[in-house]
Amino acid sequence: MNTNVRPETMERITTKELADAFIEEQVRLVREQVGDKKVLLALSGGVDSSVVAALLIKAIGKQLISVHVNHGLMRKGESEQVIEMFQNGLNANLIYVDATDHFLGLLKDVADPETKRKIIGKEFITVFADEARKLEDITFLAQGTIYPDILESIKAAEGKKAVKSHHNVGGLPEDLQFELVEPLKLLFKDEVRVVGEALGLPHSMVYRQPFPGPGLGVRCLGAITRDRLEALREADAILREEFDKTGLSEKVWQYFIAIPDIKSVGVKDESRYEGWPAIIRAVNTKDAMTATIEEIPYEILHHITYRITHEVEGINRVLLDLTPKPTGTIEWE
Ligand code: XMP
Repeated sequence: MNTNVRPETMERITTKELADAFIEEQVRLVREQVGDKKVLLALSGGVDSSVVAALLIKAIGKQLISVHVNHGLMRKGESEQVIEMFQNGLNANLIYVDATDHFLGLLKDVADPETKRKIIGKEFITVFADEARKLEDITFLAQGTIYPDILESIKAAEGKKAVKSHHNVGGLPEDLQFELVEPLKLLFKDEVRVVGEALGLPHSMVYRQPFPGPGLGVRCLGAITRDRLEALREADAILREEFDKTGLSEKVWQYFIAIPDIKSVGVKDESRYEGWPAIIRAVNTKDAMTATIEEIPYEILHHITYRITHEVEGINRVLLDLTPKPTGTIEWE
C-alpha cells in the first residue's frame, strides 16, 4: 500500500471528535514508530510545524527536539511567540537559534528575487543541519508535510514548472539522513487546523494567515537593508493589528505590507522627508493559484495610512495594490 495516497474512505476531519480520534491514532502510530528514540523538528511557528510539534509533544514529550531558526525575516513578535507557546506553555525541548546577522550578511546587496529565495532556503538548511550535527542520537526527522505538498511533489515529478521556488525544509545534506515522521501528510489544511485546535493550540495561531518560508525577505523588495526591513516589520504589525481590530483578519485570506527599494519626496513636521512607500496587499483565494482583491473600507485604509506614516520611521506614503492573481502573484517577489 502506498502510504502517500489518501484512502478514498478517509473521512474529512471537520469536528473535534474526528480530530480527537485522529490524534489518538497518530499518538499510537508515532510511539510505535519512534520507540524511545529522539526526533528532530524544524519549528518555524507556522501552522503545520506547530501542529506537528504539539502532536509529537503529546506522543513522546521530551524525545522531540524542536529547533526554531530565526532568520531575521520573521514578523514582529513571532519568534518570541514560538518560545512562549512551546517552551513555556508546552514545556517543549526547544533550541532557539538567532541567525539574523548570518542571513542578513549573506543577503546584503542581493537584489534578484530568485537568488534571495535560494540563499534563504539553502542557508536555512545549513543552519538547521549545523544544529542537528551538535545533537546526539537523533534517529528521526519530523516534518509538517501536508497532503497538498505531496500532490505538489507529484506534479513536480511529472515535470510541471513552478513559478517560484517555494522552500520548506527538505533536502538535508548526505551525512544527515533521518527516518521521517510525517503525521499530517494525508491531511488538507482545514483538517490540520481542526486538529491543531483539538490539541489545544490557540485559535489565532491555528487560523493565522499563510506566511512564506523566506518571510519578510520577499516583501522587503530588492536588496534588503536593515532599516527598510525594520520599517516593513513595524508597518506589517500595524496592518495586522488593525485587521484584527476591525475583524478583517477573519475575512481576508492573506494581507501584508511590501516595501520597494525606492524613495519619494514627502513632508513631515514641515520639513522635506524622503521615505519609502508601504504597499498594502490584501487578497482572497481558495488555493493560492489565483486570487482576488479584498475591498477594504476607506475609513480603515485612512486610519492604517495615518498610523503607518506617523508611527513608522522611514515611511512617508501608503499605496494599495489592486492587482488580482494573475497578473500579480500574491507576493511581490
Ligand atoms: P505567490 O506569490 O506564488 O504565493 O502567488 C502563493 C502563496 O504561497 C506563499 N509563498 C510561500 N510559501 N514558501 C512557502 O511556504 C515559500 O517560499 C513561499 N513563497 C510564497 C505566498 O505567501 C502565498 O500564500
